[in-house]
Amino acid sequence: MEINKLGIVGAGQMGAGIAQVAASAGIDVWINDISDELIAKGISKITKSLEKLVSKKKITKDDAEGIASRLHKAPGLGDLAEADFVVEAATEREDLKLMLFDKLSKITDDNTILASNTSSISITRIGSATQRPDKVIGMHFMNPVPVMKLVEIIRGLTTSEATTQTTVALAERLGKTCAYSKDLPGFIVNRILMPMINEAIYALYEGIGKPEDIDTGMKLGANQPMGPLALADLIGLDTCLAIMEVLHRGLGDSKYRPCPLLRQYVDSGRLGRKTGRGFHNYGE
Ligand code: 3HC
Repeated sequence: MEINKLGIVGAGQMGAGIAQVAASAGIDVWINDISDELIAKGISKITKSLEKLVSKKKITKDDAEGIASRLHKAPGLGDLAEADFVVEAATEREDLKLMLFDKLSKITDDNTILASNTSSISITRIGSATQRPDKVIGMHFMNPVPVMKLVEIIRGLTTSEATTQTTVALAERLGKTCAYSKDLPGFIVNRILMPMINEAIYALYEGIGKPEDIDTGMKLGANQPMGPLALADLIGLDTCLAIMEVLHRGLGDSKYRPCPLLRQYVDSGRLGRKTGRGFHNYGE
């Protein structure tokens, strides 16, 4: 099945990133969010990113204009009715995702595949919110989407082979490599990555080191491209907390308990780069 019209729900950093790579691959993209302002913000983030690529001579001005022309606003979910494939990249909240999938399965054609970019929530449960769980799949992109090569593919209990093949073909068309994970909390990447980030926050909480030292330690001592606290700031501390809560609840093991300091930062509104401040300061 050829995908020509892609719907994206959520114009935040993940949704905008997915829209950018899809439009760059020649696919027309319809972007939905809860307000026109958020959609416009997402599109403006993409055009800025394209301008950077032009200034680095990675793409031409004509390429950038072509990509931008394939980005369309979808102010209502109903505007995604004609989509061949929808990727949901909304906030990591289960009640929200179940509501969106219920609505999307009623609005779109029965053949439309509904993928979730959830970083940890059960695809089987999301699929159960629809009348066609065989067409529901996990398509988990990594942040920053234009740079990171991986897409995790997660099949729910009843996701069909045809749905999986179409999703993998789409991911490959976007230049990504797929890794397959069972539908268990956190899948592969976050099951391993998030406890490491949470442990780095415990190291800060227990006063083992300052943020700079924790990050320098892991960057230069373990060859990570960026330190775990800087990575948490990039991902968003609210997202990190939501993932740790899914791991803790879903696996029932105390080793996944979120660090109290992470919760406190989220409560205070320090969510990382997107708010200008997290474990590091980005000039609020
Ligand atoms: N959008 C587009 N391009 C970006 C970008 C962004 N947001 N951020 C960086 N880049 C590009 C830069 O333009 C640069 O391109 P160039 O080499 O062509 O000039 C290249 O990436 C390298 O960037 P920088 O030189 O600025 O800095 P770094 O070399 O430190 O790379 C990084 C930045 C790619 C973010 C790197 O630090 C990295 O790989 N960090 C780890 C990221 C990671 O682990 N992501 C996964 C998070 S887990 C996840 O997403 C799952 C979710 O569910 C939580």
